[in-house]
Amino acid sequence: MDKIRVKGGRRLEGTLVASGAKNAVLPAMAASLLTSEPVTLENAPEVRDVTTMARVLQRMGASDTRLKDHRLILEVPEIRAPEAPYELVKTMRASILVLGPLLARCGEARVSLPGGCAIGARPVNLHIAALQKLGARIEVEHGYIVATGRDLRGAEITFDAKTVTGTENVMMAATRARGRTVLRNVAQEPEIEDLAALLSAMGARISGAGGEAIVIEGVEKLHGAVHPVVPDRIETGTFLMAGAITRGDLRVENCRPDHLGAVLEKLKEVGVRLAIEDRAIRVLPGGPIRAGNLVTLPYPAFPTDLQAQYMALMTQAQGTSLITESIFENRYMHAGELRRMGAKIDIDGHSAVVQGGTPLTGAQVMATDLRASACLILAGLVADGETTIDRAYHLDRGYERIEEKLRKVGAAVERIH
Ligand code: EPU
Repeated sequence: MDKIRVKGGRRLEGTLVASGAKNAVLPAMAASLLTSEPVTLENAPEVRDVTTMARVLQRMGASDTRLKDHRLILEVPEIRAPEAPYELVKTMRASILVLGPLLARCGEARVSLPGGCAIGARPVNLHIAALQKLGARIEVEHGYIVATGRDLRGAEITFDAKTVTGTENVMMAATRARGRTVLRNVAQEPEIEDLAALLSAMGARISGAGGEAIVIEGVEKLHGAVHPVVPDRIETGTFLMAGAITRGDLRVENCRPDHLGAVLEKLKEVGVRLAIEDRAIRVLPGGPIRAGNLVTLPYPAFPTDLQAQYMALMTQAQGTSLITESIFENRYMHAGELRRMGAKIDIDGHSAVVQGGTPLTGAQVMATDLRASACLILAGLVADGETTIDRAYHLDRGYERIEEKLRKVGAAVERIH
């Protein structure tokens, strides 16, 4: 199993280019199931989850899932087996995203029910309830969600709580349902807007994505399209915090500052100097980083997917910060590993109290999920000595060649096989 080794103490300097968003490319890939024509995704990130989703699509009948130079071509001429099996879903929960498109395209789907994961229970009850409102019949049998519904009908659906992949699943199902669907209390993440842009390019009639309600007029058929995947705001935020924690001078290009509003505000609040351009953000060396409290919430507030990285930054701030994770119930696994590096962090339920100004020392640590791994790299960048992060495969799921990108801007980071 690969490990990542980081030698601390180097300032990051230079320019990085953001990749396409993992959490946008996965629903876009699932959307390719809605048509027999090719769907081309440009700016696709070359990460492990994309490979896994390609395998899910291949199982169902995809004849093409080529990824070269960030161009991903998907073609599913017919659905041979409308099933996402356990062995793939257990490695990537986002496989649940095929449920809505399969129902829309062929009226049946069998998708392994995802279990709990390292960051929380993560049920899919809201996906199921909304698809039932569109007329699907859904049972859970032998660990699988078994859905049928050849005749989906538009409906008015208000989600009980905001769910990103739930909103996406139901958007995709509704594109080919009969009549009008109105979705309320939807997720408003940029990835939702990106999916709507792709679906529109495929011939769907959809409006309001990114706002509080999404309206979809069902159409008979969707066709192929070419679509550029939105830049990854979480990867961008991770790099900005890597720049800030090393007191470096780092510019991230090909990003969307307008998708990082709450993150940039928080970084400025704690004293990080930023220069914001249209499609680039630069972190500049400045005065001390101050402590700052944080609450994670659905977009447009501060994302849970940057909470772990922010915690690493706060270990180096002046003062004590209170971090409240309000999206997932168990997303503090990184805190225990940071403590092994000398951090002073107390966890009480959803809250973490982080004492700043603690010198970190390199240690052997374990990655538990994607963002926790990124947090440990950030900590390793400022730790005294060498940090070895076990289970690098977590990083590879969502960060494209992170060690190469960071090396390019001066970090001493390497992969050990
Ligand atoms: N929830 C339910 N029932 C549901 C669906 C969600 O109770 O049917 C709860 C979840 O348990 C959680 C909250 O609602 O407590 C929000 O979950 P959501 O459904 O929005 O999360 P998701 O769609 O499974 C996506 C991202 C995650 C990101 C979350 C929150 C993708 C592929 N994944 O997951 O990304 O953390 O939204 O923003 O888009 C990551 O990239 O590291 C990652 C975990």
